[in-house]
Amino acid sequence: MEVWPSGTCVCFSALLCCLPPGLHASWWHMGKLGSHVMCDNIPGLVNRQRQLCRQQPAVMRAIGAGVPDWLAECKRQFERQRWNCSATPRLLLRGDREAAFVYAISSAGMVYALTRACSQGVLDTCSCDPTKTGTSRDAKGSFSWGGCSDDVDYAIRFTQAFVDAKEQKERDSRAIMNLHNNRVGRKAVKRFMNLECKCHGVSGSCTVRTCWLAATEFRQMGDYLHKKYNSAIQVVMNQYGTRFTRAHKSLKKPTKNDLVYLEDSPDYCIRDYDSGSLGTGGRVCNRTSRGPDSCEVMCCGRGYDTSRLSRTSKCECRFHWCCAVRCEDCEEEVDVHTCKFQEDVARL
Ligand SMILES: *[C@@H]1O[C@H](CO)[C@@H](O)[C@H](O)[C@H]1NC(C)=O
Ligand SMILES: *[C@@H]1O[C@H](CO)[C@@H](O)[C@H](O)[C@H]1NC(C)=O
Repeated sequence: MEVWPSGTCVCFSALLCCLPPGLHASWWHMGKLGSHVMCDNIPGLVNRQRQLCRQQPAVMRAIGAGVPDWLAECKRQFERQRWNCSATPRLLLRGDREAAFVYAISSAGMVYALTRACSQGVLDTCSCDPTKTGTSRDAKGSFSWGGCSDDVDYAIRFTQAFVDAKEQKERDSRAIMNLHNNRVGRKAVKRFMNLECKCHGVSGSCTVRTCWLAATEFRQMGDYLHKKYNSAIQVVMNQYGTRFTRAHKSLKKPTKNDLVYLEDSPDYCIRDYDSGSLGTGGRVCNRTSRGPDSCEVMCCGRGYDTSRLSRTSKCECRFHWCCAVRCEDCEEEVDVHTCKFQEDVARL
């Protein structure tokens, strides 16, 4: 089975494909070949997307360059869980909670990358937010807009037009779910815009302030979307297949800020092509933890193997006058536990 991002083409939310970390360099290279070549080489785009790609190749490159960042954030958020953000092609065709998260974080990542590129002045179609001029007020009083406010609205508009083009063509229940979760992701970036200010006035008295809006660290959006993943709401389509409602009366009604999903998740314990699960065989687990990274939970009761590794670390550090710290290299033995594979268990 092929696993994204190890070099396979996977197009999700109609998004950029084939972009394992590091490959954005070749994406850039493709761009230099001309927008036709680049846009024709991204598999899985619908016509409207190809058209947008050709009109705005620089924007597409900016978005492509941001892929490794949100991918890394997705992996970071899930490194201690059975599902570790391995987005197989199958997973992306499913309607489960994990798919909901991937669609949301990729949309957020695209908006984020594009917003940044706009502010850095590398694109012709956008720059700083043109509406942030004159004066305004916040809790601390009035301030004047200055510097460069990130133009998140432009990034949201472009990302929406591009990503949603595919789902709008399909319009089935999964497409409606994807559209909803894409939007949650896009809005996450806007939610975490920060007002940053610089003080002026007599000896830093801050009687005059110049402020601008800046997108915060992407990590914050990752944390936020992970919470939304934990509280995602299962939904069912209405009889006309045009809208969804909560799947059970006992569930909270989904709002515009909730992630929604249609299908139950597989347990992600064993490798199963049909459900898009890679299984947890070979994953590192923690013998003393009681959480999802514990060997019991991570290995789904199959057991684990332990190997002893030695690693070097800095130790016996001493302070030398003045001013250096010198350390020894110490060899340290650590036990690493990895989950057994289903096949190994079956063979016993
Ligand atoms: C995620 O889990 C799969 C399956 O065990 C593994 O092959 C892959 O290397 C893991 N990815 C990361 C980033 O740990
Ligand atoms: C394992 O889990 C325990 C308890 O949660 C934690 O204190 C420890 O740092 C973890 N070990 C590793 C290697 O992550």
